[in-house]
Amino acid sequence: MKKTKTISRRAFFGQSSAASLVVLASQKVSQAKPINVPREQVAGSAIEQKVDAIIARMTLEEKIQMVHGERLTGFIGYVPAIPRLGIPELTLTDGPAGIRHGPGTAFPAPVALAASWDRALAESYGAAMGAEAKAKGQNILLAPMVNIVRVPEGGRNFETFGEDPYLTAQIATADIKGIQSQGVIAEVKHYAANNQEKQRLTVSAEVDERTLREIYLPAFEAAVKEARVGSVMAAYNKVNGTHSSENTHLLKDILKNEWGFDGFAVSDWGATHSTIAAANNGLDMEMPTGEFFGAKLSEAVKTGQVSEATINDKVRRILRIMMRFGFFDRPAAIGPIDYNVQAQVGRRVAEAGVVLLKNEGSLLPLDLNRLKSIAIIGAYVDRATSGGGGSARMSPLYTISPLGAITQRVGERIAVKFVRFVPGNDLSKSDPATTGAALIADTVKIAKSCDLAIVFARDFETEGDDRANIDLPDEQDQMITAVLGANKRTIVVLNTGAIVLLNKWVDSAPAVIQAWYPGQDDGNVIADVLFGVVNPSGKLPLTFPRARQDVAVSSPEQYPGVSGKGQYSEGIFIGYRHFDKHKIDPIFPFGHGLSYTTFAYSNLKLSRTQIKAGEPLTVEVVVKNTGRRQGAEVVQLYIQDLEASVERPIKELKGFEKVRLKPGQSQLIKFGLNDRSLAFYDPAHKRWVVEPGQFQVMVGSSSRDIRLTTTFSVT
Ligand code: BGC
Repeated sequence: MKKTKTISRRAFFGQSSAASLVVLASQKVSQAKPINVPREQVAGSAIEQKVDAIIARMTLEEKIQMVHGERLTGFIGYVPAIPRLGIPELTLTDGPAGIRHGPGTAFPAPVALAASWDRALAESYGAAMGAEAKAKGQNILLAPMVNIVRVPEGGRNFETFGEDPYLTAQIATADIKGIQSQGVIAEVKHYAANNQEKQRLTVSAEVDERTLREIYLPAFEAAVKEARVGSVMAAYNKVNGTHSSENTHLLKDILKNEWGFDGFAVSDWGATHSTIAAANNGLDMEMPTGEFFGAKLSEAVKTGQVSEATINDKVRRILRIMMRFGFFDRPAAIGPIDYNVQAQVGRRVAEAGVVLLKNEGSLLPLDLNRLKSIAIIGAYVDRATSGGGGSARMSPLYTISPLGAITQRVGERIAVKFVRFVPGNDLSKSDPATTGAALIADTVKIAKSCDLAIVFARDFETEGDDRANIDLPDEQDQMITAVLGANKRTIVVLNTGAIVLLNKWVDSAPAVIQAWYPGQDDGNVIADVLFGVVNPSGKLPLTFPRARQDVAVSSPEQYPGVSGKGQYSEGIFIGYRHFDKHKIDPIFPFGHGLSYTTFAYSNLKLSRTQIKAGEPLTVEVVVKNTGRRQGAEVVQLYIQDLEASVERPIKELKGFEKVRLKPGQSQLIKFGLNDRSLAFYDPAHKRWVVEPGQFQVMVGSSSRDIRLTTTFSVT
C-alpha cells in the first residue's frame, strides 16, 4: 500500500523585498529572542509521561505514519499531523547555507563560517537560520553538515567546516545551539563518513575504528553531547559494507547507547534500503516517503519481524523532541522576519571568514586617494558568487556583485575598467563564452592601462558531483597569469568553496584573498576587505597544497574507490596531519591567515607542568596587537604526545580563541585542556586513552607558524 493522498497545506515562499543594509562594524547582531528548550531528558519527567500517554492511545497505523515522510508540494520533508491526538505536523527544510523554502537570505557557505574561527558568530549564524526557518513555518533544519573534508574534489566541501575534527566540532556545536535556540530542531548530517559525491549512494567507506572515532565522528559526538542536537541524518554511503541507515554499530552502539542520543535518526533523502534491517538497527524515520517505513513496516510488525516496542521507541524519540521544542503548544506557523537583521548576520560571517592569504609590500588595504584607475577582471565579476549548488543552494532576495560594489565604492573619482570572463560552468549556457586569445589580449591591455588590477577567480561546487580536478576551471589560471604579467600591482580574489591549486601563479602574485562563497553580499564583503573597512581575520580551515599528489587521498583505491570500496588507508593522517607527517610544505597551511595588523605572542604558561591522567590543565598566553590597526587574531593551540605507544599526529588542534585587539592592546588568553585533548582512541579496549609521558603544547598563528612551545608530563 503506497499512500498517494494529497495533503493540502499552504506553502510559503518568503517575502521578496530587497533588503537594504546598514553595516554594524563589530557589534553582536541580535536575533529573535531565544526559546527555552529543556536540554536534559529526565526519565519519568513530565515530557516522558505525556509522550507515554500519547503512545498508549496510538494505533499501529498512526505510529507508522510518524516514522516516515509524505510528499507534499513545496516541502523538502513533511510528516503530517495527527489531529485526533493533538500531534502537530513536522516540516523539514535545508540547510545549511540558508532556508531553502522559497527565496530567502543566502548566507555565506559554511566553510566561510569555519574560516571565521568564531564560536559566537557561529551561534549567530545558527540563530539567524533558526529564526528564518521558524518564520517560514519550518520546524526542522537539515543542518549543519559536519563531514570532514577528505577528498579535495568533494562537491560538498563548501558545505563543511573543513578538515579538522576539533574546529568542526566547535563550530558545529555553536551553530546547532543557535538554530535550536529559536525552537527549531537541528538535524546534523551526514552520519557518517560521507566524504565524496562520486558513487555517493553505493560507495562503502572502509574506515578503521580509531580513524572513525578520532576524525569522522567527533563533531557528531559533540553535537549530541554538547549541543543536544534533536536529530541526526544517516548518510547515503555505506560504512564498512553496511548502509549508514541500517548500520547498528553507528546508530545503536555508538550514537544511541554510547553517546546517549535521545533524539531521532532520519535517513537522507532516499537513503533507506530496507525495512527490517533499518528498523531494527536504529533508523527512526525514513525520508522523504514511506517506501520502506510505510506499509512494509506495518506488515513487518504484524509478522513479528519488527517488534511494536521498537516502533514505540522510534515514536517516543520523535514525540519527545517535538514536545521538548514546544511544538505541541506552538505548531509550525508563518511569521514575520526582519531580512535586514538576517543580512547583517550573513555579512558579518562572510567578512570574518575572508582569509588574506598573501599581502606582499602591504599592497592591501587599498588607499582610494592614491588610485586613479582600477582594472577589474574575472569570471562573472558582474555577478555575485552567493553559494554552491545542490540542496544547499539558495534563491537570494538580492545579490551584490564585486563589480557593482567596487564601482559604487570608488564613485566618480576613479576610473573602473572591466573584463568579464565567462567560465564554462552551467551558468555559461545562457551566455555564450567569450574566451581565448582575443580575450587574454584584451585583458592584458586593460590591466596594463590601470594603476592596479583586481582579478577574480571562482569555481562552482555542488552536491551530486565532485569536481573533475582541483584546478581553477576553464582559462582562469591563464587569465590570472596574464594579468600578473601585465600589472605588478595585481590582487587575486578567490571565490571558491574549497581548495584549488594556486601553484601556477601564486609566487608572482603580491596579494591573494580567499573569500569562499560569501552569500548575497559577496561584492560588499570583498570591497570592505579591499578598502580596509574590514580588517581580515579569517584563517584557513583547509590545507592548500602545492600539488594534487601532496594530498593524503591520492590513489584510486582511496578515492573514488575500487569495486565500490573507498579505502581510508591514510587513517587519521588527513589534512595537516598528513602534511606534517610527511614533511610536505603546503602553499598555505591549515590555520593560516594574515591581517592588516601584526600580533606578538609572549608569556606561555601552564597551570602545572605535571598532571595525573584525568586532571585538567590550563594554558595561558599573552597576545598583543603590535601594528597600527584594530584587528582580530585567532590564537591556535596544538598538542603533540611525544611518547605515544601508537603513531600519533605531530600536531592536533585542541584549542583556539579569537581576540579583537586595538593597536598596542594586549590580552591574556586561557585555554582549558582536558582528558580528551590528550587522548587517542584504543579500538582493542574500546576506549579513549591518555598515556603517561611528555606532551608538547604549541601556540601559534597557524599550524606552521608556531610562536611558542612548552612541555608538560602526564604521570
Ligand atoms: C542531501 C541532504 C539534504 C536532502 C534534502 C539530500 O540529497 O544529501 O543533505 O538535506 O537531500 O534536500
